[in-house]
Amino acid sequence: MTDPRSVSAVDPAVADLIEAEVGRQRSGIQLIASENFASRAVMEASGSVFTNKYAEGYPGRRYYEGCEFTDQIEQLAIDRAKELFSAEYANVQPHSGSQANMAAYFAVLEHGDTIMGMSLDHGGHLTHGSQVSFSGILFDFVSYGLNPETELIEMDEVRRLAVEHQPKMIVAGYSAYSRHLDYAAFRAIADEIGAVFLVDAAHFIGLVAGQAMPNPMEYADIVTATTHKAMRGARGGLILGREEYRKAINKTVFPGYQGGALFSQIAGKAVAFHEAMTPEYQEYAAQIIRNAQALAGTLQAGGLRVVSGGTDNHLMLLDLRSLDEELTGKEAAVVLDGVGITLNRNAIPNDPRPPFVTSGLRIGTPSVTTAGMREGEMERLGGLILDTLEQREDAVALKEVADGVAELVAAFPPYPADFPGHV
Ligand SMILES: Cc1ncc(COP(=O)(O)O)c(C=O)c1O
Repeated sequence: MTDPRSVSAVDPAVADLIEAEVGRQRSGIQLIASENFASRAVMEASGSVFTNKYAEGYPGRRYYEGCEFTDQIEQLAIDRAKELFSAEYANVQPHSGSQANMAAYFAVLEHGDTIMGMSLDHGGHLTHGSQVSFSGILFDFVSYGLNPETELIEMDEVRRLAVEHQPKMIVAGYSAYSRHLDYAAFRAIADEIGAVFLVDAAHFIGLVAGQAMPNPMEYADIVTATTHKAMRGARGGLILGREEYRKAINKTVFPGYQGGALFSQIAGKAVAFHEAMTPEYQEYAAQIIRNAQALAGTLQAGGLRVVSGGTDNHLMLLDLRSLDEELTGKEAAVVLDGVGITLNRNAIPNDPRPPFVTSGLRIGTPSVTTAGMREGEMERLGGLILDTLEQREDAVALKEVADGVAELVAAFPPYPADFPGHV
């Protein structure tokens, strides 16, 4: 029999770190735009005995025996994803968002083909053509960015580049852009040049699931996503698509780029899709956006410039030079972490500083919204962020901010006080 003892009895070193991590998550305000707090149900499923099972292949066509329940759990996750996003086809096996992109690219393209995507510097993701990622190494990427004046994606410019370079695929999607994407215009450009249109919805698929944002599946040929950001599920990737891409994508996910799927994660994805079908989740998704807009408004009123002029989604990018030319993203993120506000430095469009320093911060509201905060708390939080940045040299002022953060956190804990950080 397996050892029935808990992790704290078997491996105190690991147990201590889990406890320390849940303590960290509970004791600060989590504003990293790609993070969230998974529910107990998601964690139970993703920590389940499905971790033991090998089931290479797809439901009904496995290379192993004993797959009757893995077949059912995968089919359940697929059916729920298809229903949630009105998709003809879903693949729930990608281990991560990056793997989902890799599989989707190779399903329709050859090594060396031209793809168009948003540049990393202007808010795209590493897998949209960065030279340090497989995407930039294996494909010939053409990048579009933001208009320097409006800081918006300018569809005329996207079209100009597309017509000039004739990419076989156009990717829309971002890690740090706060405005709606014009799916209809992307679709029209893709049709004009005969390209496949892929939306990387990794960041905002949860808002789509909660019907707080337009569904890219209505326009795109393929949609890739992660399940652990605004979606609030188990960590992993997801591919949705039109039926005609089923065979090619299934082949590139397995056996193309992955081995056996992570069925415990697939179980956790299935639970998250189920949770996302509830009216409570729809309210949650709408509140994420209201919170982001309230926070952005407070920061703008305090003199901080929000890139692109505001937000339509769960995130915003702040240009710190508007407060102080000398203030870097690195310094700001460290001083904010010191008072209990955790976020990440982020390059802003045309940032004069290197990526490890930057002039910006990225803020997201999925986690604080899960914790139950609303617009009133966002105004308070905005004030605390401004106080921290403006008085970062003043230890007494910073102590006062830290007390304010602790009060806010105590009133809105993401997990109960006795939650050990695992189930
Ligand atoms: C737009 C976008 N695509 C893909 C990914 C990759 O996801 P993962 O970290 O799961 O590989 C991310 C992650 O931040 C992302 O923001």
